[in-house]
Amino acid sequence: MNSIHTRLVKIEDIQKDAPEILLAAETLRRGGLVALPTETVYGIAADALNPEAVAKIFEAKGRPPDNPLIVHIAGWEQLEPLVSAIPPGTEALARAFWPGPLTMVLPKSPRVPYVVSGGLETVAVRMPSHPCAREIIARSGLPVAAPSANLSGRPSPTTASHCMTDLDGKVELIVDGGACAVGVESTVVTLADSPPRLLRPGAVTLSQLRWVLGEVEVDPAVSREAEAGAVVSSPGMKYKHYAPKAQVVLVNGPVERLCRLLEREAAPGVFGLVFDEDLGRMPVPSISYGPEGDSAAQARNLFAALRELDDRGARRVYARAPLQDGVGMAVYNRLIRAAGFTEITV
Ligand code: TXA
Ligand code: MG
Repeated sequence: MNSIHTRLVKIEDIQKDAPEILLAAETLRRGGLVALPTETVYGIAADALNPEAVAKIFEAKGRPPDNPLIVHIAGWEQLEPLVSAIPPGTEALARAFWPGPLTMVLPKSPRVPYVVSGGLETVAVRMPSHPCAREIIARSGLPVAAPSANLSGRPSPTTASHCMTDLDGKVELIVDGGACAVGVESTVVTLADSPPRLLRPGAVTLSQLRWVLGEVEVDPAVSREAEAGAVVSSPGMKYKHYAPKAQVVLVNGPVERLCRLLEREAAPGVFGLVFDEDLGRMPVPSISYGPEGDSAAQARNLFAALRELDDRGARRVYARAPLQDGVGMAVYNRLIRAAGFTEITV
């Protein structure tokens, strides 16, 4: 791909007619790529109804073509043209969690190009709450396809500087709206099957989905590694993901035992990825991804911590396993993938 000039603009004051918002909207209308902040992670955005623009996303990220994209909207009226049916539960979920970190997989209408849906007959739709994303989408008047703005396989970006690292020379514009509040990608639930099924955990938790929908299944790919060649409901789940360059090992068990393990394993390039409370006692250089009992903080910090390990030259990382309830389910889901499903108990 030929390198293009990437412009970085910072948004200080988000208003409908802020020049950065207008520039981003106009770039999208022209079929260009824009990296923009959402409340979850930064996305790399293009006009979802323009197949050439969408194809550029796959090229910029090095993304496999069978991994479908989420279409982002700014209002309910943008949903109807994208779908061929509104399954039971859609409106209730939208009322409860939109705008916000929830993506619904719905039967797609013929207007949604197959390059967006990865060849599937469904489309994933989300209404982000970040004012910057909302204003850009509203101003463009387009449904906006936007995967996370990382190179395929790398940790998702939670700052504009992460986007710059991965996408400089590959997108026309990066809009800097500060650090993302949630830090892990949206919860993905499919309503195209009955009962509804959780495909990717996020900040909207499984119990929250069950309060609204009643029965919700959990797709096996959420916690297990997909077998080679298996057909999976959420194609993104079968690819190596969220991974720093270092090899990561997820460690269950008390911190004292992790310390003993690290005393034995200490070597140049060996790092710990631990909780705030552990930092003072680690026998190897270590980075924290939040307080032990605070899953929301862990979600917010995780991807930046994985990138920092790369910057510090980590080659092997022992990571303390998070609690798995509530938002912790999402934190664990990302970490186990970053670890390529390597998990031990000490
Ligand atoms: O928070 C987010 O969702 C971020 C921000 C930018 O909005 N976006 C994001 O997109 O995480 P991406 O492309 O990195 O992840 C989309 C996930 C993938 O796992 C993909 O397989 C799944 O959603 N997905 C998309 N369309 C689908 C469909 N029709 N059926 C099943 N899974 C789908
Ligand atoms: Mg992604």
